[in-house]
Amino acid sequence: MKKLVHFIAAVTLGATASYSAANCDSGETVVKLSHVTGGTTHPKVVAANNFAERVNTELNGKMCVEVYPNSTLFGDSKELEALLLGDVQLLAPSLSKFGSYTEKFGVFDLPFIFRDIDAAIRFTQSNEGKGLLNEMENVGFVGLGYWMSGMKYFSANKPLIEPTDSAGLKFRVQTSDVAKAMIKAMGASPQPMAFAEVYGALQTGVVDGQENTWSNIYTQKFFEVQDSVTETNHQLLAYLFMTSKEFLDSLDADVRNQFIEIANDVTLQANLEVKEKEAYNRQNILNAGGVINVLTPEQRTKWVDSMKPAWGQFEKAIGKDLINAAAGS
Ligand code: LMR
Repeated sequence: MKKLVHFIAAVTLGATASYSAANCDSGETVVKLSHVTGGTTHPKVVAANNFAERVNTELNGKMCVEVYPNSTLFGDSKELEALLLGDVQLLAPSLSKFGSYTEKFGVFDLPFIFRDIDAAIRFTQSNEGKGLLNEMENVGFVGLGYWMSGMKYFSANKPLIEPTDSAGLKFRVQTSDVAKAMIKAMGASPQPMAFAEVYGALQTGVVDGQENTWSNIYTQKFFEVQDSVTETNHQLLAYLFMTSKEFLDSLDADVRNQFIEIANDVTLQANLEVKEKEAYNRQNILNAGGVINVLTPEQRTKWVDSMKPAWGQFEKAIGKDLINAAAGS
């Protein structure tokens, strides 16, 4: 990486610097990191840029990471294929987007399986959670770590206080069978859609609502085109920071070891900071005039009762042991 450019990027943009193609030197292995989120305060944006900054400093002259946020290189529908084709080397897709490769990741999507982010982190550090990092080795995917994003909340073009308020509404979901079943269990209709299309779909009324973290609801401005957001806390959003086996195998052993060490450090740091980032973006929504509906314990119990029966459909595909390990975290 050219030192002058790196210096300017670091000084002017700080931890949220984005690294463009022009920054890499010709002798360096160029590593493209593509993701779909945006803004400057999003946990994934910060973690991706921290990773690039660490590699570009510590492996200077050997490797150079370019970060492409906001679906600018690849969006949801093409990124996993692009990784296998070698058109990109690093991704951090939501765990809900791997349905074509493994059903086991459905465990992360089961509504109310994790009490909070800490429980989800404990699961990812357990033997069962760590084992899932290698779940798609046969496809050629390598999991480097889990990056937490936050718990999810529903928003819609009308206030959602009781689950019956969502009856008949169309909700954008990720391409997850569990998410689809969960929305149907609420008496609503799921509409799978790429992340980059959600704002437009909410604005034009193609869908009535969506479910996401505070950081996505704030940085994508979803709250501006919705009546309000309801603090349902119903599901986890987390990412698989990943590469391909082909790329990893192509690296010299010393570079590979340092690359993996940096990935571990950045993952640890990202998960330490995630709750603070989510709280910050929740407050940003309120500061910008967004409305948040806080549920009473009785109201929240009704949401649990309406969505949790969806678990039954996935017990066989995911496996009872895995579900019990996650639920007990
Ligand atoms: C979504 O599609 O809602 C999320 O997966 C986007 C993201 O990567 O946070």
